[in-house]
Amino acid sequence: MVEIVPSILSADFARLAEEIASVERGGATRLHLDVMDGHFVPRITIGQPVVESIRKATRLHVDCHLMIERPERYAKSFIDAGANSVSVHYEACRHLDATLTMIKNAGAMAGVVLNPATPVAVLEDVLEVADYVLLMSVNPGWGGQKLIPYVLEKARKLAVMRREGKLAFPIEIDGGIHQENLADAVRAGCEWIVTGSAIFHSPDAEATTRELCEIAARAAAIEC
Ligand code: DX5
Ligand code: ZN
Repeated sequence: MVEIVPSILSADFARLAEEIASVERGGATRLHLDVMDGHFVPRITIGQPVVESIRKATRLHVDCHLMIERPERYAKSFIDAGANSVSVHYEACRHLDATLTMIKNAGAMAGVVLNPATPVAVLEDVLEVADYVLLMSVNPGWGGQKLIPYVLEKARKLAVMRREGKLAFPIEIDGGIHQENLADAVRAGCEWIVTGSAIFHSPDAEATTRELCEIAARAAAIEC
């Protein structure tokens, strides 16, 4: 099922509960939280205490995207803080299979993330372990960037690998998605569509979430 997954990175952190309530009213069922450590990517964003507070403020599925070094050290603490799904970068994981298995054993969905330049072929053998795959459609670190077009081709290739492997994991796409290119991402096989600035830099986050959900639903219907 295709879903819009608002990324709070572009929200007003001083009004976070209100911002989350807006996207929930707009029809979002998942929330994307970008955790950055100042090493894997240059900026530092949020940690476990903020995830705990968000957990208390919403019943939405909390999807934590760890843009951090040594994610195996921290993944469980984010699950304890309330994350329902945790994704780790292929580029940051020395023992990817073990880390994904640890996340699942700790009770969350385990996702693997690929930077734009990392080919989907590297996941061939581990796909049956991952609960979902997140394709970065911008270089990680900032909201508000432009989608890198070749990532849509990666999504198509991954969708073929999924079909051929008789697997059913959702493909998540993250970065530079807005009203004009959302349908392309859906047609390429993506189901969890992360959108940050398109929602939170719009004048009405609730109305924009609703609009994006409608565009996604229409594109999915045409695809079927
Ligand atoms: C970037 C983050 C994204 C970001 C997307 O490193 O992983 O989740 O918030 O923001 P937009 O939709 O503005 O590109
Ligand atoms: Zn993200």
